[in-house]
Amino acid sequence: MDTVQKFLTTPLKIGDKVLPTRLILAPMVGLTHLALRKLIQEYGGCGLLFTEMCSARAIPSENPRNSPYFKFLPEELPFLTCQIVGNNPQEMLAAAKRIEELGFFGVDLNFGCSVANIYKKQSGAYLLEEPLLASKIISLLKKHLTIPLSVKFRLPQETSTAKVKELAQSFEQSGADFLIFHPRKFPDRRNRPPRWEYIEVVQASVSIPVFGNGNVFNPKDLKNILKTGCAGVALGRIAAARPFIFAELCHNFTPTKKTYLEVAQKMLTYLQNFFEPVRALRLFYKWATYFCANFDFGLSLYSQLKKANSLEEIEKILPHILTLNPLTSPNLLLLGN
Ligand SMILES: Cc1cc2nc3c(=O)[nH]c(=O)nc-3n(C[C@H](O)[C@H](O)[C@H](O)COP(=O)(O)O)c2cc1C
Repeated sequence: MDTVQKFLTTPLKIGDKVLPTRLILAPMVGLTHLALRKLIQEYGGCGLLFTEMCSARAIPSENPRNSPYFKFLPEELPFLTCQIVGNNPQEMLAAAKRIEELGFFGVDLNFGCSVANIYKKQSGAYLLEEPLLASKIISLLKKHLTIPLSVKFRLPQETSTAKVKELAQSFEQSGADFLIFHPRKFPDRRNRPPRWEYIEVVQASVSIPVFGNGNVFNPKDLKNILKTGCAGVALGRIAAARPFIFAELCHNFTPTKKTYLEVAQKMLTYLQNFFEPVRALRLFYKWATYFCANFDFGLSLYSQLKKANSLEEIEKILPHILTLNPLTSPNLLLLGN
């Protein structure tokens, strides 16, 4: 076991709970659904899972049996955090209380989403420009919750060391138990590299754990991001592409060609089991963009899959995966880089 693995598999205490590893899943709309989470858990190595972002307004009345996004299995709750998005403290509290009652590991506040319709509603990354409201939300939830409360955020518009430090410290003082930090600013998309040097600033200015996030795709990236001193790392797109990445990085799991086929077949089955057919097909296509990034000629696999019009047809194409050569590092163009 090398030093990175030793660090990653050193349990991390958060409140009165313990994460088995320091490598966690970053929340992603349309990707971190129940099917992907189930696959990730089967391979192991992931310290904490996240739902997709859920509207705080909707959560109190959402029915997990038929909700397309607020859907989970009882066995994943001890290591599943639900991310909520909104800006009304009372609505956020009502959502958080329900999440706690249901038995989730924790509640995460989305202060990082820069998608236009969220930002325009003065939620997500907008709250970084309203630090008093952001603090009010955190302290209100902290006062009423016993489960861990985390904040996922990005770089604020005014990108200076002083501003980033001030934000991180205000989150800690208001009661956040840990932070997940993606150092890109709105409206920068993924075409610019994240500014990892700010992860160092954030971790150095607070005493709670900080999970660094952004563009970690392989062991070398992981080693480099850990130089910032962060307590752990959150993986986004690479976890969709390689649900076994946590097992690779923490436990030396080595995928074979058969592993890739197994992943795609299981994804198809789980999506069919958990979602109605039209949604299952849509979610499969969304996921397939990331999965195909694993292969030389991945784009041609994607076009083949895209031509199929049903889950049954997709199933027939999947064995073709065995004829492809997996790349050592994924095709960043397909990952949206
Ligand atoms: C398709 C997609 C959906 C995302 N949805 C969310 C979300 O719901 N909540 C959130 O906090 N971040 C969301 N993100 C951002 C990721 O959590 C993460 O911060 C970002 O992808 C950088 O990490 P990566 O380089 O490991 O992918 C999303 C990213 C992607 C690619």
